[in-house]
Amino acid sequence: MRFQISTFVLATLVFSTQAIGASHKFMPAKPTDARSPCPGLNTLANHGYLRRSGSNFTIEELMDATKEAFNLDWAPILVAAKFGLLSGEDRSSFSRMNLKALNLHNLIEHDASVSRGDFGNGTGDNVHFDEKFFSVLANKNPGVDYYNARAAGETQRDRLAHSIATNPLVVNTRKEFLLRSRESALYLSIFGNPITGVAPKKYVNIFFREERLPIKEGWKKNKKLITVETLSPIEEEIRNFSEWNATQACEPLILGPSLTL
Ligand SMILES: *[C@@H]1O[C@H](CO)[C@@H](O)[C@H](O)[C@H]1NC(C)=O
Ligand SMILES: *[C@@H]1O[C@H](CO)[C@@H](O)[C@H](O)[C@H]1NC(C)=O
Ligand SMILES: *[C@@H]1O[C@H](CO)[C@@H](O)[C@H](O)[C@H]1NC(C)=O
Ligand SMILES: *[C@@H]1O[C@H](CO)[C@@H](O)[C@H](O)[C@H]1NC(C)=O
Repeated sequence: MRFQISTFVLATLVFSTQAIGASHKFMPAKPTDARSPCPGLNTLANHGYLRRSGSNFTIEELMDATKEAFNLDWAPILVAAKFGLLSGEDRSSFSRMNLKALNLHNLIEHDASVSRGDFGNGTGDNVHFDEKFFSVLANKNPGVDYYNARAAGETQRDRLAHSIATNPLVVNTRKEFLLRSRESALYLSIFGNPITGVAPKKYVNIFFREERLPIKEGWKKNKKLITVETLSPIEEEIRNFSEWNATQACEPLILGPSLTL
């Protein structure tokens, strides 16, 4: 069902005017800081919403950070956060996470991402931003200054087609599909209107390319809390535009760096 925009909902789409304090200034990661394949988590660390070292944080701290920085409810990222706890193998990592550990292929990191290459046979860079891949999204919606569910869904379709054509080891099950679609709905909602899923290109591009909140360009955290309920209709549209088909039925079971079943 197409989502109906009520005047009530539009009326509540007033942006927060809360200033971002000095403690949340953008500071690029130091070489010793841990960062992940996820631009959202890296951005939280680059602004000090997550500890800037990117190491040793709890799921609760992560959930508080996404709420504070993005006005994102905890439920939409709960499953990914739980998976994240499988990324380590020592005792402390059962309750604390490290961004670098999330590089682990096929845990929550996945093929055919918007901004990273595929892991492939281990020679691919699945961790760092690469304009070559991001240009697929950057070239969508020519002539207008926003991305929407169509742009996001078609990007997923095209990135996956490229992975299937070039990466004989591509993993593309329902799990990766759900992760990709959730991530797309998140960048549209966080950097745009969480009801229509329309987001200024300028903000989304800065987020991916610099892992920075585009505050000085005019972005403000949404006043409306982003929840599973607001994300679902946008995700459904994205999924439709992506024309997705599974490559495999089951994903490899990743239980840590040295445990793959
Ligand atoms: C992680 O943080 C906890 C709580 O702040 C602290 O007790 C622990 O020593 C830290 N571990 C590392 C490896 O820094
Ligand atoms: C890994 O994949 C790359 C890119 O497809 C290829 O150039 C390279 O030869 C492969 N290496 C091995 C060891 O299979
Ligand atoms: C998505 O596709 C399904 C199946 O064709 C359709 O029922 C649904 O209305 C579509 N949803 C959106 C938001 O386009
Ligand atoms: C997925 O399969 C359907 C049905 O075979 C096909 O129409 C569609 O083009 C496929 N999607 C892509 C992206 O190839």
